[in-house]
Amino acid sequence: MGRLDGKVAVVVGAGQTPGQTVGNGRATAVLFGREGAHVVAVDRYLDAAEATVLAVSEEGGTALALAGDITVEQDIEGFVAETVGRLGRIDILHNNVGVSLAAGDGPVAEITGEAFDQVIATNLRGMVLTCKHVLKVMQAQRAGVIVNISSVAAVLDYPNIAYKTSKAGVIALTENLAVTFARYGIRVNCILPGLMNTPMAIEPRVGRDGMSREQVIALRDSQVPLGKMGTAWDVAEAALFLASPQAGFITGVALPVDGGQRLKNG
Ligand SMILES: NC(=O)c1ccc[n+]([C@@H]2O[C@H](COP(=O)([O-])OP(=O)(O)OC[C@H]3O[C@@H](n4cnc5c(N)ncnc54)[C@H](O)[C@@H]3O)[C@@H](O)[C@H]2O)c1
Repeated sequence: MGRLDGKVAVVVGAGQTPGQTVGNGRATAVLFGREGAHVVAVDRYLDAAEATVLAVSEEGGTALALAGDITVEQDIEGFVAETVGRLGRIDILHNNVGVSLAAGDGPVAEITGEAFDQVIATNLRGMVLTCKHVLKVMQAQRAGVIVNISSVAAVLDYPNIAYKTSKAGVIALTENLAVTFARYGIRVNCILPGLMNTPMAIEPRVGRDGMSREQVIALRDSQVPLGKMGTAWDVAEAALFLASPQAGFITGVALPVDGGQRLKNG
């Protein structure tokens, strides 16, 4: 028996940035599949979502890939309608999409309006609109669970303004939805990953300021009280708990998965 047996779980941002390690979204999709969920892997790049479906099915799980860009509301309506049309319901929504340095983020003195708009449109507006459309389904079911991915950057001394403000917005969004939809039996929580060894975090930093991959990893490891970065599986395990019946009385929380980093810098 898996902890998510029979559940339909939509993972948005289920592909990943190419790199040497697994990304948060893909690891979560694989773990949900391992625990018996029927995973719907959504990504703006269909081939990235299909690679995740392959990873889920290699472990005996069930998944399907759908294309969708959450900065486009019609895309969101499309993948929500297709999921309900094919699988009948949505029990779990895992909102993983997030962009940072690769989208041109920077300190407030350097950020361009275009880069700020792009990060907010992806990390916050896209999550709001995804929740809007999935909540209609969950409200009719009078049941559902949402897990949003924020970041400890929201609560730390973190330099890049668009990412920080978008991730703080995700916490506010989570709290708003949790209290508004509790009466329908819907739980909404968010995870604040810290420094993780994922391609999204490592690849854009390799070569910056002359840093090698080994130096990027060593610097990030040195900032974590537990001694090294976490992995995507740490985020996935937290997401599994929050999505599972074991977290049935938990809603509106912002759970750090950060090796204690927020206590050092926050
Ligand atoms: N890695 C870290 O150190 C760290 C730390 C804190 C928080 N996070 C958060 O974790 C999440 C991402 O983790 P990951 O490792 O899976 O990242 P990733 O970049 O490897 O994967 C994210 C996926 O989202 C997709 N995506 C991007 N924009 C999209 C859009 N508009 N519509 C649909 N899909 C889109 C990408 O194509 C990609 O496949 C983000 O929310 C990020 O902010 C990561």
